[in-house]
Amino acid sequence: MLRLALSLSLGLAAASCDGRPAAPAPGGGPGSATPAPGGGGPDPLDPLRRFEASRRAATDFSRLPSSDRLLGPDPIALRPVDPRGRPAAPGAPALLSPLRGRDALVLLDASLRELSRAPAPASPTGVAVMPSGEVFASGEASPALFRYVVRGASLEPAGRIELAGLHGVRDVAAGPEGVLYALDERAGALLTLRPGPARADGRLEVERWDEPIGAGPFRVVRLARHLIVDCLLDHTLVVLPVGADGRPLPGGAARIRHDGPIWSFDALETTDAGGGLLLAAGGVEDRPLDRTGGSFGYIDSFVFLYRVTTGARPEVARLSAVNVSELGVLTPKAIALSALPGAAGVRVVATGYGGDRRAELLFRATDAGLSAAPEVSTRPLAPGVAAMATLGGDAFAYANPLLDAWLLDAGDDGAVSKRPVQDGGEDARSEELRLGEALFFTSLMAPWNGTDGPLSRFTCETCHFEGYVDGRTHHTGRGDVRATTKPLLGLFNNRPHFSRALDPDLTAVADNEFRVAGALSGHDPWFALSAAEAPWLVDLGLADAARAGLPPEALRRALMSFLMAFSHRANPAALGRSSFTSLERDGARVFRDRCARCHAPVLRSDDPGSAAPFERWEELVLAPEGAIVWGRAGYERTGVVPYVHEDGARVPSLRRLYKKRPYFTNGSAKSLREVLERARFGDMGGRAAADGGPSAAAAPGAFFHDGAPAGEGLAALDAGAIEALLAFLDLL
Ligand code: HEC
Ligand code: HEC
Repeated sequence: MLRLALSLSLGLAAASCDGRPAAPAPGGGPGSATPAPGGGGPDPLDPLRRFEASRRAATDFSRLPSSDRLLGPDPIALRPVDPRGRPAAPGAPALLSPLRGRDALVLLDASLRELSRAPAPASPTGVAVMPSGEVFASGEASPALFRYVVRGASLEPAGRIELAGLHGVRDVAAGPEGVLYALDERAGALLTLRPGPARADGRLEVERWDEPIGAGPFRVVRLARHLIVDCLLDHTLVVLPVGADGRPLPGGAARIRHDGPIWSFDALETTDAGGGLLLAAGGVEDRPLDRTGGSFGYIDSFVFLYRVTTGARPEVARLSAVNVSELGVLTPKAIALSALPGAAGVRVVATGYGGDRRAELLFRATDAGLSAAPEVSTRPLAPGVAAMATLGGDAFAYANPLLDAWLLDAGDDGAVSKRPVQDGGEDARSEELRLGEALFFTSLMAPWNGTDGPLSRFTCETCHFEGYVDGRTHHTGRGDVRATTKPLLGLFNNRPHFSRALDPDLTAVADNEFRVAGALSGHDPWFALSAAEAPWLVDLGLADAARAGLPPEALRRALMSFLMAFSHRANPAALGRSSFTSLERDGARVFRDRCARCHAPVLRSDDPGSAAPFERWEELVLAPEGAIVWGRAGYERTGVVPYVHEDGARVPSLRRLYKKRPYFTNGSAKSLREVLERARFGDMGGRAAADGGPSAAAAPGAFFHDGAPAGEGLAALDAGAIEALLAFLDLL
């Protein structure tokens, strides 16, 4: 009970994702946020610290594998084989599903039995079916779209489209005119492609048009007259009218903008005079994070209903916003919108990655339009759903990367059956690792949270999408200090954690996150879990553990084990490469001379002795692990204000910068070019200050990332150095 009281009082003062009080607790240095029960007794976190130390000692951080294939086969999307969506006959090909963790595309029948499997572009996430029935798949880590034909029950590779200048394609869609749409997540671009005939080497000729679309585009859907792109990091859905040739028309786009990310959408074109559409979207509550209550306020998951008109006078009207966290649907990544028979209204079915239910919302048509308050019903569905597809009538299929399975939802009777992905034994994960993944991606860390007012039911992924970021700069609750979300991959060799560096290790992270996640639920964060709280743990293969009960220490250890394994995904820009271009090599040299004293080339952030000599950078940067941290444990004051700590901010890691946006703790730099254009150095032989002698600001060693005083003789990076650095940073 003492622990509960202390935890709650700390929880109420907590003030950022780092979960730490605004003012240090008396005598509370880093690592002492969880006091020993009863005082004086052994610290319950000691076994976890020993576990962490022994795992660190046994890990070679230059070889810690990237997590791309580590978390199972990960079925991530579902697309009907029939481009017109007609139901398939029993046993016939019905659905296509990419396995992100196995670089494969699978063909399924309507009972979700695997019929056929073929190689797919690396880290496949997108699949599209042309009106001709040809299939194209895209991968986040490959510049090629693979083409297939479905012959009988077999999926046969049939050529490819190479997209020069890209490193990956996050999603792909097809239009009835025989065009494809591809998303370049890295560059924030939409590509429209018109494939032509295949050449002798299997490559397809292609006409191609690129246009900027927004930050982090990751889902694209084509309707009869519109194309919709979801830009995760811009928190925007872009609805584009398309012309007769299938290309987006210039101008006339409508934009739905939120304060935070939108994870899913579905839309129906309306036949009324306006020619607009109805759109349902799943995303985080559309208002800024509120930390004044001591926890995370206003980050429930919502389903939104919009009416959208594109063209000369684009218009967006929100018809409804439904708190689905309240219904047990968290981080809704799968949503389906359909018209009720007889124009009686529309139905939205939504389910999430983090909750344990699916919700059905019926918006009835009234004389005044659709009712804003839907009729709601829910039923249990295991968490981890990333995509859904209708199988006709009330039946649905779900792709579930958490359970590494497809789920078949037969409809009205509520029976859901699980079809595990066949994996040939590659997935050798421990139960602990599976549990850790579930803690991170579901509400298991705080199962008792409420949703009233600012209270929220959320998961880590509400802000850390797929473990990376949400593109937001959040209030910390400490004065006007705001903090941009950071990636949670690659933490194991990057301590201490948070820009304030107050969590010395993963033991502290795990314990503090349990506390802050459930801070206002009135429950002791030092709790045990059983199958009663989460019956679906059985589906995760944790039946025995769940029956026996999972004690608090085991829960923290599982989260830590997951974070240790959750290493950065391979950087597609470095994949398959073995040497730098001359521009990248120039960039590496500028980096060594100008940046590496802070962004250290170490394999462990807190160990200067683990620095890699310049001669090894090329080899280590171009390896799939891309293991160098490019950061260090100490603080620096670099002009990025307000400072999060009196000594500035911890020097951050620069690994996989392409997955993070915006830059700097205060989020003031939208791009890496902006970061580099603002940098100023005092030791580049700059002009002396007006009064003759060198000014203090321009002293040798002085450095400003931002806000450098003008007229002090500070030097900027020249254009050549900026281009070279951009090329180098892209590889990290
Ligand atoms: C409301 C949004 C939000 C939620 C929800 C959230 N975080 Fe964060 N997280 C952030 C922000 C913002 C930062 C950057 C804070 C900083 O470094 O000052 C961050 C940073 C972190 C860091 C530090 C990373 C580093 O490189 O130092 C860790 C660890 C972390 N979060 C863990 C978690 C875990 C575990 C969960 C789930 C229990 C979680 N977060 C949920 C917003 C969030
Ligand atoms: C004197 C130490 C120092 C030097 C030199 C330095 N940096 Fe930094 N850098 C920092 C610190 C500290 C931050 C974090 C500031 C903040 O966001 O609060 C940072 C942030 C960054 C970020 C933003 C990272 C993110 O996750 O938002 C980038 C990118 C970056 N630095 C690149 C560089 C490059 C490139 C150079 C060399 C041209 C360089 N830095 C030189 C200390 C330094």
